[in-house]
Amino acid sequence: MMEVRLNDGNSIPAVGFGVFQIPNDGPTYDAVLAALKAGYRHIDTAAAYMNESDVGKAVKDSGIDRSEIFITSKLWLQDYGYEAAKKGIETSLVNLGTDYIDLYLLHQPYGDVAGAWKALEEAKEEGKLRSIGVSNMTPKIWQEYVPQFNTVPAVNQVECNPFFQQKELRALLDKEDVKIEAYFPLGHGNPQLLSHPVVQKLAEKYGKDAGQILLRFEVQDGLIVLPKSTKPERIEGNICIFDFELTSEEMEEMRAMDTGKGTHDPEAPGVGENLLNAYKIHD
Ligand SMILES: NC(=O)c1ccc[n+]([C@@H]2O[C@H](COP(=O)([O-])OP(=O)(O)OC[C@H]3O[C@@H](n4cnc5c(N)ncnc54)[C@H](OP(=O)(O)O)[C@@H]3O)[C@@H](O)[C@H]2O)c1
Repeated sequence: MMEVRLNDGNSIPAVGFGVFQIPNDGPTYDAVLAALKAGYRHIDTAAAYMNESDVGKAVKDSGIDRSEIFITSKLWLQDYGYEAAKKGIETSLVNLGTDYIDLYLLHQPYGDVAGAWKALEEAKEEGKLRSIGVSNMTPKIWQEYVPQFNTVPAVNQVECNPFFQQKELRALLDKEDVKIEAYFPLGHGNPQLLSHPVVQKLAEKYGKDAGQILLRFEVQDGLIVLPKSTKPERIEGNICIFDFELTSEEMEEMRAMDTGKGTHDPEAPGVGENLLNAYKIHD
């Protein structure tokens, strides 16, 4: 598996298995075990996905050494502010059944972000978190918060795929060697993206499915990708993207698919409150 070097010196596998919207108590356990069997060594969960415990159980039962598996989780908005974040980190460690988390993110950029970040920095110092990062930060939000931090985040996990290539954000983050993790790397299953003529043409040429073409493009373009599937054949296929290479002309054709817009706007009015109302992970 190809690895990407982060600005704190740690390495992260370029393809991770995403478990958003996979239920706990069975389905996440089965999907993560299938992913580990297929060769994934990077799992992306979050406190708000309510399935950290299935991830932890599958990692343990896989028989693969914990040190070979990269686990990401994320702090939810209810646990922002310094004191609440310290507790939130402990809860993730307990739910995952591990004494460290490889990468821990501030899931959303609202509320007492600076206080929550301070708790992440301290937990990193204590060895409970190996790398720390943020998510859903647009260039404007990044410039509002990150200058207040002592540590520059290792990653910013944002919506990113050929329809929304985050060119402005990438130019900004490149300056500080901050890596982008692409969520919705398959457009959350968007049929227009999967059936786009350029994607279909390349799928036929390389004998791959549309998802593999999207993921290959993204990884070849320097992104860390987090495809999700509950179907064993797709779980296996989505990691088989290292046996072919797109030409520079093909990369340009896919770069031209950018619309500059995504489906989620982190700057929309009221989005923080709406998210808090939508995901209540504890009282
Ligand atoms: N930080 C954040 O705020 C945030 C937000 C959203 C997501 N994420 C992370 O990013 C991960 C990925 O996002 P996502 O799961 O929403 O979207 P995604 O990975 O872009 O797309 C998943 C969808 O594509 C389908 N699919 C999977 N492989 C395919 C293939 N080869 N060909 C065609 N369709 C395929 C899946 O269906 P089947 O399951 O039926 O195969 C599912 O409907 C999440 O699991 C999560 O870890 C983070």
